[in-house]
Amino acid sequence: MPGTVVLGTQWGDEGKGKIIDFCAEKADVVVRFNGGSNAGHTVKVGDEVFRFHLIPSGTIRPEKLNIVGNGVVVDPEVLVKEIDELKGRGYKVDNLKVSERAHLVMPYHKLIDGLEEGLKGSLKAGTTMRGIGPCYEDKAARIGVRFGDLVDRDLLEARLSTLVPLKQRLISAYGGDDVLSREALLRDYVGYGKVLGKYSADTSLILHEALSEGRQVLFEGAQGTHLDIDHGIYPYGTSSNCVTGSASVGSGVGIRHIQEVIGVVKAFTSRVGTGPFPTELPEEEGAYLRDRSLGEYGTTTGRPRRIGWLDTVMVRFSARVNSPDHLAVMKLDVLAGLDPAKVCVAYESDGEELRHFPASMNVLSKCKPVYEELAGWEDISEDTWREVVKAGYDESPPNLREYLAFLTKQTGVPVGIVSVGPGRAETMDIRK
Ligand code: IMP
Repeated sequence: MPGTVVLGTQWGDEGKGKIIDFCAEKADVVVRFNGGSNAGHTVKVGDEVFRFHLIPSGTIRPEKLNIVGNGVVVDPEVLVKEIDELKGRGYKVDNLKVSERAHLVMPYHKLIDGLEEGLKGSLKAGTTMRGIGPCYEDKAARIGVRFGDLVDRDLLEARLSTLVPLKQRLISAYGGDDVLSREALLRDYVGYGKVLGKYSADTSLILHEALSEGRQVLFEGAQGTHLDIDHGIYPYGTSSNCVTGSASVGSGVGIRHIQEVIGVVKAFTSRVGTGPFPTELPEEEGAYLRDRSLGEYGTTTGRPRRIGWLDTVMVRFSARVNSPDHLAVMKLDVLAGLDPAKVCVAYESDGEELRHFPASMNVLSKCKPVYEELAGWEDISEDTWREVVKAGYDESPPNLREYLAFLTKQTGVPVGIVSVGPGRAETMDIRK
């Protein structure tokens, strides 16, 4: 702090929600900077489980200010639903601001997402169907509608008068039979404006003022490095940047304010979409880890995740593009009881050893993992893990510590946070 970024080093679903919640305790402001309601962050507080798609995980801490930054694409329908749900659970949600520059997901984006996926053949990414790609496409094409526009009826009307016929042509050309209504869209979005207008703000300015006053800001990454539009597994990733640099771009804060980067790594690898996955386990073996783990099903889509061994080629790449100060290693309790625990350290491709993650999907799809086998650690109960946490890291199973030391050796990044269960009480902070 004052600026700490938490982001995923794999294909999303590393357990960022828990680390963001953990770090939010010391933060004054939490800001999301990328993605949209394709994300799913699960936070467990006591016996209560919260699942967020859009709003920052810090919103359940009433004393923190929460910001949805300009880099996020906002589906107002989802936002209204999440706010209402929180209100129904007793939260006032008066600690939320949304960038007036954030782009809006429109119903036609979701329709086009589905139609494009159906037509993309081998380029199909297995999207979450939340309209993310088409919304970012419009942003880049400069035909988007922004959050601040919600409160300007005349502007909305003018935009929709141009955009509805344009999108209708596209939908029909793609073979869709949905008919868009400018009037219905205008009515709905003016309605969202009435409910959401009070959240709209110049959030870059709010962040700038907070940082100038020495307040602590936590930047909450969504998805993961290997889904990043530039650095991820193109074309199977998402449409936003998910790396450290995007925390600055997606929130309107200069890079000098970012003083700590935490890369979240799950102790195994998972993936919900399509595309090559070198360490993927056969279904019956993957199902073992999936079933032991809370929620190895897409938080947004409910799809079972594909599961594989930890891949340090991926994490090494993430270390390079994100410059993390620490790794937060998740779900070490889930891996417990597996002996040996395999870790991929390189790939074999056409008889050569590759230590760096390739850009080409053709190359990646031919890569065979080169494993090192490490001794596993004992499977113990949730209560026993809590005892371990209380006793301190040095009292945790020696093989677990060996495993983490090995991860550091492979990636060059020290482990700073160790997670052995879903709750706050199952977390060891060993950052120096
Ligand atoms: P989209 O972001 O919905 O366009 O989906 C593009 C790809 O990113 C698909 O393979 C999705 O499964 C994946 N994806 C998007 N968001 C997440 C996430 O939060 N966790 C994991 N995978 C995601």
